[in-house]
Amino acid sequence: MAQHGRLVAGNWKMNGLRADAAALAGALVVRAKGASARCDILVCPPATVIGDVGLALAGSGIALGGQDCAPAEKGAFTGDVSAEMLKDAGCTYVILGHSERRHGRGESDGEVRDKVLGAWRAGLTAIVCIGETRSQREDGMALAVVSAQLAGSLPPGASADRLVVAYEPVWAIGTGLTPTLADIAEIHAGVHASLPAATRILYGGSVNPGNAKDIFAVPHVDGGLIGGASLKADDFWAVVEAAE
Ligand code: PGA
Repeated sequence: MAQHGRLVAGNWKMNGLRADAAALAGALVVRAKGASARCDILVCPPATVIGDVGLALAGSGIALGGQDCAPAEKGAFTGDVSAEMLKDAGCTYVILGHSERRHGRGESDGEVRDKVLGAWRAGLTAIVCIGETRSQREDGMALAVVSAQLAGSLPPGASADRLVVAYEPVWAIGTGLTPTLADIAEIHAGVHASLPAATRILYGGSVNPGNAKDIFAVPHVDGGLIGGASLKADDFWAVVEAAE
């Protein structure tokens, strides 16, 4: 495991109005109070509720992150949110290059790289997502694809203090499907070999309370990036406990 301990991150995606988001965050705070957290816990809510969630999480030790950021600090970029704005709203992390951005919005490795630079400029830890499609896996290209994504998405200067990598096979996200533990092990070992030694590598894609313990036991799996299961406090907390 990396020197920072495990990280379990909830990616709420485009879910949560202010009242729901504050209630979910509050339910996590209740659980965190009764526990001695031995792993780092992060929630990444939609931008509109970051302030509310930050208030609900205050003093809990649960960290706050964004789901994306613009490369630039400020200016004429209608609709965008900068890393500095996320930082100002209380975030310490930002998810970048999620497959819903890469594949859903056509984001390139170069764009992800520019966003990582923006995150680092603002002092945020970048969670850089990589992952192969179903056909790329079937063609035996999974490790080559994620290695190329990493090479293209990471600027020089990566360090374990400001970079987390999340391996999320595109076909495993939101589908209930997961790679075999051996397949996860192969990718994580390959990615680990190409990163500064203590960099945390998360697995993401259909992690739930039923499979989390086995997945977190795989070598070089340093935590998880959790979508659907992060929207229910009990499920998310069960995944957190599986990481401890
Ligand atoms: P999932 O999403 O847990 O719902 O599969 C993971 C993610 O997209 O980060």
